[in-house]
Amino acid sequence: MTSIPDVTLNNGIPIPQLGFGTYQIEPQDTEDAVRTALEIGYRHIDTAQMYGNEKEVGAAVRASGLDRAEIFVTSKLNNRDHAFGDALTAFARTLDDVDLEYLDLFLIHWPLPTVGDFIETWKALEEIYASGRAKAIGVSNFKPAHLERLLRETTVVPAVNQIELHPYFAQDDVRAFGAGHGIATEAWSPIAQGKVLGDPVLAAIAERLDRSTAQVTLRWHLQRGDIVFPKSVTRERVEENFRLFDFALTPDDMAAVTALDRGARMGPDPDTFNYVP
Ligand SMILES: NC(=O)c1ccc[n+]([C@@H]2O[C@H](COP(=O)([O-])OP(=O)(O)OC[C@H]3O[C@@H](n4cnc5c(N)ncnc54)[C@H](OP(=O)(O)O)[C@@H]3O)[C@@H](O)[C@H]2O)c1
Repeated sequence: MTSIPDVTLNNGIPIPQLGFGTYQIEPQDTEDAVRTALEIGYRHIDTAQMYGNEKEVGAAVRASGLDRAEIFVTSKLNNRDHAFGDALTAFARTLDDVDLEYLDLFLIHWPLPTVGDFIETWKALEEIYASGRAKAIGVSNFKPAHLERLLRETTVVPAVNQIELHPYFAQDDVRAFGAGHGIATEAWSPIAQGKVLGDPVLAAIAERLDRSTAQVTLRWHLQRGDIVFPKSVTRERVEENFRLFDFALTPDDMAAVTALDRGARMGPDPDTFNYVP
């Protein structure tokens, strides 16, 4: 079976560089989708309280027959629980829902700088981390200014920052800030939910390498050192997205993909996003 390289997080914990995303997978489809991914060889699952499918992710992990230690499970705090006590309660509910003894990684999903106080929320995550119920803690959608505040006012440096990242939105400033502070970058919507797949530059590279544009895009992320977890409910695509370790992009290919960056954010801007469900 293909072995997936690990990235070592700043606290020494290894995380498989390729995982499986579960955003927009309906709860009733999630257990099957995650089971398929685990069968194919994925060992890293990304979910969130907001996705409404944590129970089903946990069920698939428990039913897999694999040792718990072999699977890396991430979840994220819902926006409505940005407060010390609420964050602790919400995390406890997540552990109950996934029905696992611990999470590998727990993230603040959005900084919500106009709503709450992510500092207070982070202190709750620090407490969770100290208890051992999350092996690592991190953030998502944080810009350098948010991270600077966190680094100044709290103790534990986030292990990861999970951000929107794809060839049309390469976010090199945020990645460089993370690299400078030991914060690994995770790329969400790594193929821009399909929007980059018709790109002619990606198509030319894909044709030369006899690969798909999705594979070329995912390989670009991996060669940049970032962590990815493409989502698909289509078995053939889940397999295709796993076949990334028997080819490589040349330095020219890497530069050509990076040059596609046009600052095109698809999702909300973290500075102004204040959605609380
Ligand atoms: N932290 C955050 O705020 C945040 C935000 C968004 C996402 N995420 C995480 O990042 C993960 C990935 O992002 P995403 O789900 O938004 O988008 P994505 O992985 O970039 O794209 C998923 C879409 O692309 C299609 N697709 C997947 N593989 C394909 C392939 N090989 N060829 C053609 N189409 C393909 C899927 O279709 P089918 O499923 O129909 O096959 C689905 O419509 C999420 O699942 C979630 O875990 C985090």
